[in-house]
Formats: sequence, structure tokens, C-alpha cells
Amino acid sequence: MHTMEETAPAPTGHPAGAQPEPCVIVIFGASGDLTARKLIPALYETARTGRLPRGTRILGLSRTEMSDAAWRESLEPWVRQHATGFDEEAWRTFARSLHYFAGSGTNATIYESLKSRIEELARDGEHHGNVLFYLSVAPSLYEPIIEQIGRADLVFEGKRWCSLDPDAMPWQRIIVEKPFGRDKATAASLNRALGRVFEEDAIYRIDHYLAKELVQNLLVLRFGNTIFEPIWNHRYIDHVQITASESVSVGSRGAYYDEAGAIRDMIQSHLLQILALVAMDAPTQYAAHQIRQEKIKIIEAIAPTPVDNIEWFAAFGQYAGDDREPAYHQLPDVPGDTTTETFAALTLHIDNWRWAGTPFYLRTGKRMAEKRTEIVIEFKKPPVDLFRFLTAADGSADRPPNRIIIEIAPTERVGVQLQGKVPGTGVRLDTVRMDFDYQQRFHAEPVEAYGPLLLDAMRGDQTLYKHRLEVEGAWSAIMPFLNDHSAPLRRNLNGNYAAGSWGPESADALLARHGRAWYNVDRR
Ligand code: BG6
Repeated sequence: MHTMEETAPAPTGHPAGAQPEPCVIVIFGASGDLTARKLIPALYETARTGRLPRGTRILGLSRTEMSDAAWRESLEPWVRQHATGFDEEAWRTFARSLHYFAGSGTNATIYESLKSRIEELARDGEHHGNVLFYLSVAPSLYEPIIEQIGRADLVFEGKRWCSLDPDAMPWQRIIVEKPFGRDKATAASLNRALGRVFEEDAIYRIDHYLAKELVQNLLVLRFGNTIFEPIWNHRYIDHVQITASESVSVGSRGAYYDEAGAIRDMIQSHLLQILALVAMDAPTQYAAHQIRQEKIKIIEAIAPTPVDNIEWFAAFGQYAGDDREPAYHQLPDVPGDTTTETFAALTLHIDNWRWAGTPFYLRTGKRMAEKRTEIVIEFKKPPVDLFRFLTAADGSADRPPNRIIIEIAPTERVGVQLQGKVPGTGVRLDTVRMDFDYQQRFHAEPVEAYGPLLLDAMRGDQTLYKHRLEVEGAWSAIMPFLNDHSAPLRRNLNGNYAAGSWGPESADALLARHGRAWYNVDRR
């Protein structure tokens, strides 16, 4: 068993080759759900497996008065439940690095003593005062906290702060949770607030989808092989489907969700990131700057949606109730006449030479048939059908096209769908699938995204974090589906799709208009 007091092993195969550096992680929102459910279990995991740099200290900040011991105690059950391997000794060692500070991050008067506390912890951890701020609070508090951090002079990269070594250059970085704004203007305002205090290379806009194995594998699949690139364009690809369906309901998150909806909650962030990785050109290096540049180009090339005809480009839905759960519009925190979408399907086009004419269909929703995060690359049919003489029974009728199916969750798998000859005399065709199952091949357990992401921030690697322009570009692309122009899509939503279904009929019609259909699991 490793503990954090052992020497952390070098990161294996990390492109930047940089080691995560010890720091004080200051978590604003220490008593919140995200901290207990995700951040602390993930940090514990990195410590237990020897990846958290020795000397790292974690300082949780929130308003409730609490001692270090009480905070540690409150977190233990969460770690037991949410970390993959609980080990008493590893927990005790890790818990010693957890500290608590009572105060509101928006209150200027706490910052003198906060600063001393950070200094104290840096000395205790015997490092040079690197600080990683984590905003795990309500989004309305982001800007006020950032402003206070700036005013309190907590950020001055490159200068001596609480360093033990006068020549050391400690860094200060910040991780910002989603939602990053609620529209283009608020996202731009938050970016400006961050920019007044932090350099862009110290700002880490988190998107946990980027840490999913199969999302990262997209770049390897596309650019570590030569066979895909020649056909990865509008000449061969008919269209692309990106689905993130969830079987869970909105549940107790009604208050948040009704302000957000499926487009803000999932499409603006996660699905557009997947789209960018599917559509981008090869970066010149496997490095944050080069990769993000290519993603920015794609996001900025998303064609503006013609607002006069918005129903042609999108379908919205709200799940109905069943004997297990109420309908969305019947949730206690949700107004009965809510027009917030719990399902959205969008058509987007990318205006560049590679993708002109190839639609990207994105869909996501709550309480759908199953949890499935998947990319389907659907290829054009052969220009001439050599097998048109076959009868329906022999596989002539409606032969499915070639597809590359990239399953991100719950299975991690890449499949290629082909036509094959059924053995025997005569010619009969059938659809076959070649699969590369990630878990079977590598025996790797899916990893909780937050641990690797935090370590990346500690090594200064922004590859899996979003650039300012990606975030603002993504908002620009989806604003037509959120502003007043989306009103026609929001009529009569209440209960327009059954719980456990694949969404409203209008979502099927969206593709059917072009002779296409969603690749749903039950069609396999
Ligand atoms: C979050 C959304 O960002 O992603 C949630 O706020 C959603 O509503 C979740 O359930 C889905 O994440 P995952 O990793 O389970 O696909």
C-alpha cells in the first residue's frame, strides 16, 4: 500500500512530463456536496495510490464554524462510500492533511488570516507556497470571491510569498467549476473577472467529460492511427450523432435544474467538447496549447443557427411521470408551467472544408431509456450497391451503413459496424460489429475524473481544461436555443416524452426529415 508520505512515483507517459507539485489546495465551499462527494474522495484516492505530492495540504473554507477534526470526521463516511478503495491507515494519513477555515470567501476581512493560514500550511508541508484555489461554491459567488482573492494579494506568481526558499517561484492557480456563466454575456464577464486576477495559464475551467478515458482516447484513435483520417470528413461521413442520455431524473436538483435545462447543463459544456474532439484537425503537438487551438477553431466554426426556423434545427422535451417518479413539471422546486427542457436534440453544422454539409446531431436528456454516452459516426452508403439483386431475406433491404460507435459510458468500447457475408453457398449479407472493449483489453477500472484533473492542475497541464475562447464560443453556438427565439420549441413541453423512452417524437422527426434516424440501442 502506498501512502502520501511515500515518494510519489513519476507520472507515467504524461506528455508534458511534469510532476505534480505540492501545494495548498484551498477549497471554497468546503461543506458542499461536490467537496464531499467528489473532491475529497478523489484526493484521498490520489494519496492512497501514492500520486498526491508529499507536502500537499488541503484547506477547506466555508461559513460554518468547525474544527479541523470535525471537518475530517464529516468527510470520512463520504470517502468510505465514494472512493474506490478505503483503507483505514491511508485515510488516517490523508486526513492529517485536511484543514478547515471558517469564513465566507466574499468577506474581505477574512483574507489576512486566510493568508497566514495558507503560509502556515505551506511551511508545514515544506514547500514554497504554491496555491491551488478551487471554486466549489454557488456560481453567483465566483466573481465576488475572485475579486477578494485579487484584492488580498493572494496572487502574484513568480514572487516570493510564503516561500522557504527566496529563489523559489511559487504559483497560484484556480479551478472553476461549471456552470461557467449562464449565457454568453455572463461567461464573458466571469472570464474578465478571472483575467483581472489570474493569467490565462493559471485558470483551469473544469469539464469532467474531458477526463473520461474514451473522450481522451478520441485523439489517440484519430491521430495515433492513419486509417481514420482520410475518411474523416464530409466526403465519407454522412452525419455524426452525439448522445448523452441519462436514466436518472432531476430528482432533488429541481431548483438548480429549472434555471439551467438540458442545453446549459450538458450541451454547452460536455457535448460541445466531444463535438470539438471529434471534428478538430490534428494538433501539431500533443500539448495543451496546440490541442486547445484546434478545438477553438471548431467551436468558432459552428454555423449560426437560423433563428427564424429554429424548429428545423432542434427538438425539446420534458419527461412525464410514471408509477415510480413524478413528471418533471410536478417536482416541488419546479413551477407547474415550466418551459425548461429536460431533453434537447440539436442539429449543428460546422462551416469548414472538412465538415461542410455533414450535420452533427447532439441529444441529451433525463429519465431516458438508459444511461448512454456515445458517439456514432455514420458513413455514407456505397456509391453503387453491388448487392441490390439480393432479396430482403438475404440482407438486401435497408442495409445499415458503416458506423464507428464510440461508447464512452457506461461501457468503454469502440465498435465498427460492417457488412459481412453469411457463411455458406450463395451470397447473403448480415451486419457485423468489430469491438475493442477498453475494460476487457486493459482491465482498467473507470477512474473518477476529479483525481487526475486535480493532479494535472498541480503539474500545470491545461490539456484537459477549457480555454476562455472555447467556453465563450460554445455559448455563442447555443444561444439561439436559449434566447427568445427558442420560444417555439418550448410550447407544450410538459410531459411530452415518456419516462424510460428515447425522448419526444419531435426528436425523431428532426432526423427523419433528412431520411436519418437516431442510433438507439434497441435498433442493434
Ligand atoms: C453534470 C450535470 O455536469 O453531468 C448532471 O450537471 C449530469 O446533470 C452529469 O447528470 C452527467 O455526468 P456523467 O459523468 O454521469 O455522464
